[in-house]
Amino acid sequence: FQPGRLQDQRVLITAGPTFEAIDAVRGITNLSSGKMGFAIAKAASEAGAEVTLISGPVCLAPPPVKKLIRITSATEMLAAVENESKHCDIFISVAAVADYRPAISHAQKLKKSDDHWTLALVPNPDILQYVANLPNPPFCVGFAAETNDIEKHATAKRRKKNLPLLVANLAQEAIGADENTLILFDDHGKHTLPRAPKITQARRLIEHIASLYQA
Ligand code: C5P
Repeated sequence: FQPGRLQDQRVLITAGPTFEAIDAVRGITNLSSGKMGFAIAKAASEAGAEVTLISGPVCLAPPPVKKLIRITSATEMLAAVENESKHCDIFISVAAVADYRPAISHAQKLKKSDDHWTLALVPNPDILQYVANLPNPPFCVGFAAETNDIEKHATAKRRKKNLPLLVANLAQEAIGADENTLILFDDHGKHTLPRAPKITQARRLIEHIASLYQA
């Protein structure tokens, strides 16, 4: 890992889960500790980048970044990304964005009853796709946590979202853990970063991004 590989590049990173409120005390979310996104933010800073980190609710100490923006919901994450993506060179979308949110979010606590209850959900915007489809997009990196058929799903996602690089990992191995295995899919094919602590993986990934970005 060579420090300075991303000197003065502006890197925008999303991390952690989003939380979609049902009412004042309840909500739906995705499992995500934020550890991988925070490690990537640290590694990008070490490589000399000016890092902006947009994070959902996590219990982690802030990494050394230029700007940290804390949000709760996918709608708030999109608004922050809309602002920040105007001036970034590289976008790394590590967040586990909730795919749906409740159609109605109640300000007051709902009272429970013995009846069955059906919760209406509406799809959230795809934040990464929004950035990748900008007229002059930054270099976009996506993540995919899969439980099975990693290569098939990762390749399909990379194509659908039109990404130069997609990073896949096994959900059951990675979520909340301190170590993981990453599989990188880019125009050159498939490249595995064997199981290691997340900070090591983050530094390897930043090195890989720098080599693709500067090629
Ligand atoms: O959820 P999915 O597997 O499609 O996520 C793949 C990539 O898309 C991840 O990088 C994730 O951060 C991003 N994503 C997003 N907004 C969404 C869903 C996913 O930015 N609503």
